[in-house]
Amino acid sequence: MALNKILITGGSRGIGLAIAHRLAAQGASCILMARNGNVLEDAVTKLPARHGQKHGVIAGDVSSPDVWEMVRREYADIDTLINSAGISQKSLLISTPVEQVINTLNTNLLGTTLACRAVAKSMMRRKSGSIINISSVLAHKGVPGSSIYAASKAGILGLTRSLAVELGQRNIRVNAICPGYIETEMTAGLQPEMGPAGRMGTTEEVAEVVEMVLKNGYLNGAVIDVDGGLGCM
Ligand SMILES: NC(=O)c1ccc[n+]([C@@H]2O[C@H](COP(=O)([O-])OP(=O)(O)OC[C@H]3O[C@@H](n4cnc5c(N)ncnc54)[C@H](OP(=O)(O)O)[C@@H]3O)[C@@H](O)[C@H]2O)c1
Repeated sequence: MALNKILITGGSRGIGLAIAHRLAAQGASCILMARNGNVLEDAVTKLPARHGQKHGVIAGDVSSPDVWEMVRREYADIDTLINSAGISQKSLLISTPVEQVINTLNTNLLGTTLACRAVAKSMMRRKSGSIINISSVLAHKGVPGSSIYAASKAGILGLTRSLAVELGQRNIRVNAICPGYIETEMTAGLQPEMGPAGRMGTTEEVAEVVEMVLKNGYLNGAVIDVDGGLGCM
């Protein structure tokens, strides 16, 4: 696994931050991206840097094409992209304000798509790269009140599979991970269906799978469930 420069959207907390800690501990230089600059600055100073590597932050909204144009121009050396930025949404489709519908789809699906687009060209030039998109168990499991979120996360799986074929010949792998319910701010106060494991997952359990996906050079277009069996129910 060549751990050089990794861009992690949603890297300021939760799953994205756990991934950053795990990869930084192994020598990766991490660029954390999220909207809140103060939280980002606090998070980046706590990342391990025992290999002398430098970390950085990008304060920006993943749904903004301008942000990704800047990334395309100024971060041409990104060799790994982890798309973890996302928001949840819990309301029936008919009672969800249209602005919220658009914001959920834009953050989760458009944001992930624009991120892949922004880094793909330079990865293609170098004939090397790895992209991991964080989807969700709700991409393939119906739960009332989750239709918009589920649509955004299922869209990410389509994006992942097609891109895996588009970019695979250039030695760029694109994979997706579908977590079940994981203990983060996103699920604080929720009492979700636990599934056979009888508990929620931890951010470290997701980060561990991210590391495995990055290490395995033959894994491409894969969708890996990390949900304690919840998706099988
Ligand atoms: N936790 C779960 O149970 C679970 C289960 C399945 C899938 N997932 C997925 O895993 C990913 C991470 O979730 P999490 O639980 O770690 O959530 P979290 O703790 O709420 O963290 C979300 C991260 O995304 C960033 N973010 C949100 N909207 C953004 C935007 N428009 N532009 C840039 N950054 C944005 C947040 O920072 P700012 O708010 O500062 O922007 C934060 O860094 C999400 O895609 C989520 O859908 C989570």
